[in-house]
Amino acid sequence: MLKASGESFAKIILIGEHAVVYGQPAIALPVKSIKLTATLIPRADQQQLIASTFYHGPLAAANTSNFAGIAHLLRALLTFFGAQQQGFDLKIVSDLPPERGMGSSAATATAVVRAMYQAFAVPLPHATLLRWTAISEKLLHGNPSGLDAATTSAQRPQWFVKHQAPHAIAFPSNGTLVIADTGVAGQTKQAVAAVAARLNADPNRYQPKITAIGQAVRQAAIALADDQLCALGQQLNVAQTQLAALGVSTPALDHLIQAAQAAGALGAKLTGSGLGGCMIALAKDHAAAQAIAQALTEAGASAVWQYDFAQSEEHS
Ligand code: PMV
Repeated sequence: MLKASGESFAKIILIGEHAVVYGQPAIALPVKSIKLTATLIPRADQQQLIASTFYHGPLAAANTSNFAGIAHLLRALLTFFGAQQQGFDLKIVSDLPPERGMGSSAATATAVVRAMYQAFAVPLPHATLLRWTAISEKLLHGNPSGLDAATTSAQRPQWFVKHQAPHAIAFPSNGTLVIADTGVAGQTKQAVAAVAARLNADPNRYQPKITAIGQAVRQAAIALADDQLCALGQQLNVAQTQLAALGVSTPALDHLIQAAQAAGALGAKLTGSGLGGCMIALAKDHAAAQAIAQALTEAGASAVWQYDFAQSEEHS
């Protein structure tokens, strides 16, 4: 094993969460200013030690913590490389707030797989990376679409359909997203399960909402291609209406969404699984974004970030 490190980014779902689990498309973007790095350092002894936000200690004892998915992935990787007895220190340093719909678990998995492949000097095709990250995401979320892993490992915004290879989608050069945190942990597994339960119990009522989100995603893609920020904002609002009807918005999310709209947002919605976590608001430019960011802070957001669409075309 060589000393190695892997990197990944935070992700924001622009539009399409939840419906993406049922085969509809989604658009999501990596936020390269919010990073996660996994560093692997081989040890002479056989200790396998982890230092991360979620877990500090030996790999063997990581089962009961919320690090279980990553621990399972790590064991699978060590077995794959025939290195079950290899000692190492794994350090995970993250700027991503956990459980906020920013893809922290998928970003961790991505960085760990990259570090492991680099440590054994084996090239890592992107499709292979996504297959590995699905191992921990499945354990953590039950029925993940794969969107988080595809985006936290990408350089550009992604058009994503479950079970298909994701591809980059171009964003206009103007427009800014304001991202605000309710300060409440999102609950991906519960939110995905709640939507599944509703769909199961009353498909006639809930399936049209899934279909409507998919339609809003397609309209959003057209608006992005045509540089039509107002039209894009309208589709974000359409998606939010449907997500609320699916039962995954909360009063705290609704409150921030209303504050953003009152401050001039072209559209606003929750991002990620909902039931807590973050919301996004679309601003026509950087100055409008500043006003919206201020309004969101005043409305009680625990953290606010800005993402200029111009960033989406920058290469690292
Ligand atoms: O809350 P997050 O960032 O893990 O996003 C979940 C997105 C869902 O569409 C709700 C689930 C999925 O697997 O795509």
